[in-house]
Amino acid sequence: MRKHIVAGNWKMNNDLAATAGLITDLKRKVNNGDAEVIIAPTYINLHSAFESLSDSNITVAAQNMHQAKSGAYTGEISAAMLKSVGVNTVILGHSERRAYFNEGDELLTEKVNAALENEMRVIFCFGEELEDRKAGNQEEVVESQLKNALFHLDASAWSSIVLAYEPVWAIGTGETASPEQAQDMHAFIRKTVAETYNEEVAENVTILYGGSVKPGNAKEIFGKPDVDGGLIGGASLKADDFFEIVNAFA
Ligand code: G3P
Repeated sequence: MRKHIVAGNWKMNNDLAATAGLITDLKRKVNNGDAEVIIAPTYINLHSAFESLSDSNITVAAQNMHQAKSGAYTGEISAAMLKSVGVNTVILGHSERRAYFNEGDELLTEKVNAALENEMRVIFCFGEELEDRKAGNQEEVVESQLKNALFHLDASAWSSIVLAYEPVWAIGTGETASPEQAQDMHAFIRKTVAETYNEEVAENVTILYGGSVKPGNAKEIFGKPDVDGGLIGGASLKADDFFEIVNAFA
Protein backbone atom coordinates (compact mmCIF):
# COMPACT_ATOMS: atom_id res chain seq x y z
CA MET A 1 0.00 0.00 0.00
CA ARG A 2 1.55 3.32 -1.04
CA LYS A 3 2.08 6.01 1.58
CA HIS A 4 0.66 9.49 1.86
CA ILE A 5 3.52 11.97 2.30
CA VAL A 6 3.62 15.73 2.75
CA ALA A 7 7.17 17.06 2.49
CA GLY A 8 8.32 20.63 3.05
CA ASN A 9 11.19 21.77 0.84
CA TRP A 10 12.51 24.78 2.74
CA LYS A 11 14.95 25.66 -0.06
CA MET A 12 17.52 28.31 0.95
CA ASN A 13 15.56 29.61 3.94
CA ASN A 14 16.00 29.67 7.75
CA ASP A 15 19.27 30.01 9.65
CA LEU A 16 19.93 27.93 12.79
CA ALA A 17 17.70 30.05 15.06
CA ALA A 18 14.84 30.29 12.56
CA THR A 19 15.02 26.53 11.99
CA ALA A 20 14.78 25.89 15.73
CA GLY A 21 11.81 28.25 15.96
CA LEU A 22 9.92 26.67 13.08
CA ILE A 23 10.60 23.17 14.39
CA THR A 24 9.26 24.18 17.81
CA ASP A 25 6.07 25.39 16.10
CA LEU A 26 5.83 22.25 13.95
CA LYS A 27 6.16 19.97 16.99
CA ARG A 28 3.12 21.65 18.53
CA LYS A 29 0.96 20.63 15.53
CA VAL A 30 -1.16 17.50 15.31
CA ASN A 31 -1.26 15.28 12.24
CA ASN A 32 -4.94 14.28 12.08
CA GLY A 33 -4.45 12.06 9.07
CA ASP A 34 -2.11 9.28 7.98
CA ALA A 35 0.45 11.26 6.01
CA GLU A 36 4.15 10.95 6.73
CA VAL A 37 5.50 14.45 7.42
CA ILE A 38 8.94 15.36 6.09
CA ILE A 39 10.89 18.63 6.28
CA ALA A 40 13.98 19.42 4.22
CA PRO A 41 16.07 22.21 5.78
CA THR A 42 19.42 23.40 4.37
CA TYR A 43 22.57 21.41 5.01
CA ILE A 44 23.72 23.51 8.00
CA ASN A 45 20.46 22.79 9.80
CA LEU A 46 20.14 19.06 9.19
CA HIS A 47 21.82 17.76 12.31
CA SER A 48 20.10 20.15 14.71
CA ALA A 49 16.77 19.42 13.00
CA PHE A 50 17.36 15.67 13.28
CA GLU A 51 18.20 15.99 16.99
CA SER A 52 15.24 18.30 17.70
CA LEU A 53 12.80 15.98 15.91
CA SER A 54 14.13 12.69 17.29
CA ASP A 55 11.14 12.55 19.70
CA SER A 56 8.61 13.30 16.94
CA ASN A 57 7.28 11.50 13.87
CA ILE A 58 8.57 14.20 11.53
CA THR A 59 11.30 12.96 9.15
CA VAL A 60 14.26 15.13 8.11
CA ALA A 61 15.41 15.06 4.47
CA ALA A 62 18.24 16.72 2.56
CA GLN A 63 17.57 18.94 -0.47
CA ASN A 64 20.46 17.53 -2.47
CA MET A 65 23.73 15.55 -2.28
CA HIS A 66 26.84 14.85 -4.33
CA GLN A 67 27.25 11.53 -6.12
CA ALA A 68 30.86 10.89 -5.04
CA LYS A 69 31.78 8.97 -1.88
CA SER A 70 34.30 11.68 -0.86
CA GLY A 71 37.13 13.78 -2.36
CA ALA A 72 38.10 17.08 -3.89
CA TYR A 73 34.60 18.50 -4.38
CA THR A 74 34.71 21.81 -2.54
CA GLY A 75 31.39 22.75 -0.99
CA GLU A 76 29.71 19.40 -1.60
CA ILE A 77 28.10 16.85 0.76
CA SER A 78 28.08 13.07 0.28
CA ALA A 79 25.35 10.53 1.04
CA ALA A 80 27.44 9.05 3.86
CA MET A 81 27.76 12.48 5.46
CA LEU A 82 23.97 12.89 5.36
CA LYS A 83 23.53 9.46 6.93
CA SER A 84 26.05 10.40 9.65
CA VAL A 85 23.72 13.17 10.85
CA GLY A 86 20.66 10.92 10.80
CA VAL A 87 19.32 11.88 7.36
CA ASN A 88 18.11 8.93 5.24
CA THR A 89 15.94 10.73 2.70
CA VAL A 90 17.15 13.06 -0.04
CA ILE A 91 15.42 15.21 -2.65
CA LEU A 92 17.08 14.88 -6.08
CA GLY A 93 16.38 16.46 -9.46
CA HIS A 94 14.57 19.54 -8.24
CA SER A 95 13.91 21.92 -11.14
CA GLU A 96 16.02 24.61 -9.45
CA ARG A 97 19.01 22.20 -9.37
CA ARG A 98 18.36 21.36 -13.02
CA ALA A 99 18.07 25.04 -14.02
CA TYR A 100 20.65 26.82 -11.88
CA PHE A 101 23.22 24.03 -11.43
CA ASN A 102 22.83 22.28 -14.77
CA GLU A 103 21.85 18.93 -13.28
CA GLY A 104 20.85 16.74 -16.21
CA ASP A 105 19.75 13.12 -16.62
CA GLU A 106 23.26 11.63 -16.52
CA LEU A 107 24.29 13.41 -13.32
CA LEU A 108 20.93 12.67 -11.69
CA THR A 109 21.31 8.99 -12.55
CA GLU A 110 24.65 9.00 -10.71
CA LYS A 111 23.10 10.79 -7.72
CA VAL A 112 20.15 8.38 -7.58
CA ASN A 113 22.52 5.40 -7.71
CA ALA A 114 24.74 6.85 -4.97
CA ALA A 115 21.76 7.52 -2.73
CA LEU A 116 20.39 3.97 -3.19
CA GLU A 117 23.86 2.45 -2.65
CA ASN A 118 23.81 4.23 0.71
CA GLU A 119 20.35 2.82 1.46
CA MET A 120 18.71 6.23 1.29
CA ARG A 121 15.17 7.01 0.13
CA VAL A 122 15.02 9.31 -2.88
CA ILE A 123 12.32 11.92 -3.52
CA PHE A 124 12.88 12.33 -7.26
CA CYS A 125 11.62 15.60 -8.78
CA PHE A 126 10.68 16.08 -12.42
CA GLY A 127 8.22 18.10 -14.49
CA GLU A 128 7.72 20.02 -17.69
CA GLU A 129 8.41 23.67 -18.50
CA LEU A 130 5.60 26.03 -19.52
CA GLU A 131 6.56 25.83 -23.20
CA ASP A 132 6.36 22.04 -23.07
CA ARG A 133 2.85 22.26 -21.61
CA LYS A 134 1.77 24.88 -24.15
CA ALA A 135 3.05 22.62 -26.94
CA GLY A 136 1.25 19.60 -25.44
CA ASN A 137 4.56 17.79 -24.90
CA GLN A 138 4.28 17.38 -21.11
CA GLU A 139 3.87 13.61 -21.16
CA GLU A 140 6.82 13.13 -23.52
CA VAL A 141 9.04 15.33 -21.32
CA VAL A 142 8.02 13.60 -18.08
CA GLU A 143 8.46 10.11 -19.55
CA SER A 144 11.93 11.06 -20.76
CA GLN A 145 12.94 12.42 -17.34
CA LEU A 146 11.79 9.22 -15.63
CA LYS A 147 13.31 6.92 -18.25
CA ASN A 148 16.69 8.68 -18.28
CA ALA A 149 17.27 8.76 -14.53
CA LEU A 150 15.19 5.98 -12.94
CA PHE A 151 14.16 3.25 -15.39
CA HIS A 152 17.54 1.54 -15.21
CA LEU A 153 16.71 0.53 -11.63
CA ASP A 154 15.64 -2.98 -10.64
CA ALA A 155 12.00 -3.26 -9.57
CA SER A 156 13.21 -3.96 -6.02
CA ALA A 157 14.85 -0.51 -5.81
CA TRP A 158 11.50 1.21 -6.23
CA SER A 159 10.61 0.66 -2.58
CA SER A 160 13.14 3.47 -1.92
CA ILE A 161 11.80 5.84 -4.58
CA VAL A 162 9.19 8.58 -4.06
CA LEU A 163 8.21 10.47 -7.22
CA ALA A 164 7.50 14.21 -7.11
CA TYR A 165 5.85 15.67 -10.18
CA GLU A 166 6.48 19.42 -10.14
CA PRO A 167 5.39 21.29 -13.28
CA VAL A 168 8.01 24.05 -13.43
CA TRP A 169 5.39 26.62 -14.41
CA ALA A 170 3.62 26.02 -11.09
CA ILE A 171 6.66 26.32 -8.78
CA GLY A 172 6.65 29.51 -6.76
CA THR A 173 4.24 31.15 -9.18
CA GLY A 174 0.86 30.71 -7.51
CA GLU A 175 -0.20 29.10 -10.81
CA THR A 176 -1.11 25.75 -9.31
CA ALA A 177 -1.90 22.90 -11.66
CA SER A 178 -5.63 22.16 -11.52
CA PRO A 179 -6.59 19.00 -9.62
CA GLU A 180 -7.53 17.49 -13.00
CA GLN A 181 -4.17 18.39 -14.55
CA ALA A 182 -2.38 16.87 -11.56
CA GLN A 183 -4.51 13.70 -11.69
CA ASP A 184 -4.05 13.30 -15.45
CA MET A 185 -0.28 13.51 -15.18
CA HIS A 186 -0.07 11.31 -12.08
CA ALA A 187 -2.19 8.66 -13.79
CA PHE A 188 0.12 8.86 -16.83
CA ILE A 189 3.17 8.51 -14.59
CA ARG A 190 1.70 5.47 -12.82
CA LYS A 191 0.75 3.88 -16.15
CA THR A 192 4.27 4.49 -17.47
CA VAL A 193 5.82 2.84 -14.40
CA ALA A 194 3.41 -0.12 -14.76
CA GLU A 195 4.34 -0.56 -18.43
CA THR A 196 8.06 -0.37 -17.64
CA TYR A 197 7.97 -2.59 -14.57
CA ASN A 198 4.64 -4.09 -13.40
CA GLU A 199 1.36 -3.22 -11.69
CA GLU A 200 2.73 -3.91 -8.20
CA VAL A 201 5.59 -1.39 -8.53
CA ALA A 202 3.22 1.16 -10.06
CA GLU A 203 0.53 0.75 -7.42
CA ASN A 204 3.01 0.98 -4.53
CA VAL A 205 5.01 4.03 -5.61
CA THR A 206 4.07 7.28 -3.88
CA ILE A 207 3.61 10.12 -6.36
CA LEU A 208 3.66 13.62 -4.87
CA TYR A 209 2.48 16.80 -6.56
CA GLY A 210 4.50 20.01 -6.10
CA GLY A 211 3.88 23.53 -7.37
CA SER A 212 2.03 26.21 -5.40
CA VAL A 213 0.22 23.82 -3.05
CA LYS A 214 -1.53 25.97 -0.44
CA PRO A 215 -3.99 25.34 2.41
CA GLY A 216 -6.81 26.41 0.09
CA ASN A 217 -6.11 23.91 -2.71
CA ALA A 218 -4.45 20.94 -0.99
CA LYS A 219 -7.61 18.98 -0.12
CA GLU A 220 -8.91 18.96 -3.71
CA ILE A 221 -5.54 18.07 -5.21
CA PHE A 222 -4.78 15.37 -2.64
CA GLY A 223 -8.27 14.00 -3.10
CA LYS A 224 -7.40 12.77 -6.57
CA PRO A 225 -6.83 9.00 -6.79
CA ASP A 226 -3.26 9.10 -8.11
CA VAL A 227 -2.06 12.03 -5.99
CA ASP A 228 -0.45 10.65 -2.82
CA GLY A 229 0.61 13.93 -1.24
CA GLY A 230 2.70 16.99 -1.93
CA LEU A 231 6.15 18.52 -2.04
CA ILE A 232 5.60 21.98 -0.59
CA GLY A 233 7.81 25.04 -0.98
CA GLY A 234 6.64 28.43 0.24
CA ALA A 235 3.75 27.15 2.35
CA SER A 236 6.10 24.83 4.30
CA LEU A 237 7.80 27.83 5.92
CA LYS A 238 4.77 28.56 8.12
CA ALA A 239 3.82 25.82 10.60
CA ASP A 240 0.07 26.60 10.46
CA ASP A 241 -0.09 26.57 6.66
CA PHE A 242 2.09 23.45 6.40
CA PHE A 243 -0.04 21.44 8.83
CA GLU A 244 -3.26 22.65 7.22
CA ILE A 245 -1.84 21.00 4.09
CA VAL A 246 -0.76 17.88 6.05
CA ASN A 247 -4.28 17.61 7.45
CA ALA A 248 -5.79 17.75 3.99
CA PHE A 249 -5.58 13.95 4.33
CA ALA A 250 -7.59 13.95 7.58
O1 G3P B 1 9.93 21.41 -4.06
C1 G3P B 1 8.71 22.05 -3.86
C2 G3P B 1 8.69 23.38 -4.51
O2 G3P B 1 9.36 23.39 -5.72
C3 G3P B 1 7.28 23.93 -4.69
O3 G3P B 1 7.38 25.29 -4.36
O4 G3P B 1 6.58 27.39 -3.39
O5 G3P B 1 5.43 26.39 -5.42
O6 G3P B 1 5.17 25.31 -3.16
P1 G3P B 1 6.07 26.14 -4.07
